[in-house]
Amino acid sequence: MSDVSETSAGGNAIPTETENLARSVVTAEADPSEMTEFAVLPKAAYTTEEYLQVENRRLFSVSWMFATFARHVSEPGDVVPVTVQGVPLFVVRDEEGTLKAFHNVCSHRGSQLVCEMQKERKTIVCPYHAWTYNLKGELSWTKHFAGVNATDLPDRQQNKLGLKEVAVAQWLDFVFVNFSAMPESFAQQISELEQRWADYDLSSMTYGSSMRYDFDANWKLIVENFLESYHVPFIHQTLNTYSPFSERYQIQLSDRLLGIGQGRYQPEPLHGKRLPSWPMRDGKENIKAEYFSVYPTFLIGVMPDHLFAWVLEPVSAGKTVEHLHFYFVGEEGAHAEKFAPHRAQTLENWKQVNDEDWEIIQRMQAGMQSPAFPHPLLSRHMERNINAFQTLIRTHVGLPGPAATTLVS
Ligand code: FES
Ligand SMILES: [Fe+2]
Repeated sequence: MSDVSETSAGGNAIPTETENLARSVVTAEADPSEMTEFAVLPKAAYTTEEYLQVENRRLFSVSWMFATFARHVSEPGDVVPVTVQGVPLFVVRDEEGTLKAFHNVCSHRGSQLVCEMQKERKTIVCPYHAWTYNLKGELSWTKHFAGVNATDLPDRQQNKLGLKEVAVAQWLDFVFVNFSAMPESFAQQISELEQRWADYDLSSMTYGSSMRYDFDANWKLIVENFLESYHVPFIHQTLNTYSPFSERYQIQLSDRLLGIGQGRYQPEPLHGKRLPSWPMRDGKENIKAEYFSVYPTFLIGVMPDHLFAWVLEPVSAGKTVEHLHFYFVGEEGAHAEKFAPHRAQTLENWKQVNDEDWEIIQRMQAGMQSPAFPHPLLSRHMERNINAFQTLIRTHVGLPGPAATTLVS
């Protein structure tokens, strides 16, 4: 893990608990002018539709975006329609077992090809005039196009009319797509995180359930809230009892993998029992939790006995849908009756945390409208991750309006 850099509230390496205490004393005595960080995005980046359009063009259209779950396309012939940033696609496992993604639109007159999940398909048939594509996206049947009962279009024409393919990648139960013609490698983007979590045996991760939150807020405010623990003692008083603020640290695995670590994540056992834990390859007992933003819109966290994946769907500058998906350890963790109360408790805990965040994030969006609020202010100690996230957005998307930098101190 030599290429992994970690930053704590005040330094470069993960602090021990004692160092953490020492740092908070140093922080309290520090010169305030050294305690602020550049806030590199002005508030127009959160409030204007123009900026979201630029994000769509320069960021989402060249990034790995969550599309669907691998368990829904596990067998050859499985087909799943999805919409990613408003674009209809479908994901399919072809007859050789290769995962593929295509634009979900017929080359003839543009009918949507697939509207619901399908199984055991060998072809994709357009409902309108029955143009038929194989699972590699090649157009294979166009009868009557050249006249009643006439044979299909000549091969040389059909060859040009196949479906438009989109890059696809699978990681754990998650399928991502990338609209770029030359996408960066997903495996490379995720490699530091895979390496970091290599001790977890996640092969038994089993889907449990999902929740949905509709935010009146810009998607970036949700990511930024996810990336700092400064608000935990104030907003999440219950969470702070089993995942304390004092044992949290910021992590920067790469510029696109920012996260938060928690030395201890231990809700009280229920009826003296806990959910089954992830088997650890190093054989050690694990009580920590970590979560990461997989740039730009996918958030994932692993706790000792469950895992979450939260997907952000930016709808407009001031509206975002957040889909929360929860996984447990094996069939037993996910489905055994004896653990039903424990799963319910886990989900209730996250619901409480997310309800609390939902409220405050929307307040921030409302505050952004105020003419009396010129610019966000960031703590160098507590909100370094946010600075890193905003820097990346600024690199990929740019600034709204003319470039300007404001140092707030
Ligand atoms: S629109 Fe698909 S066959 Fe005509
Ligand atoms: Fe929070």
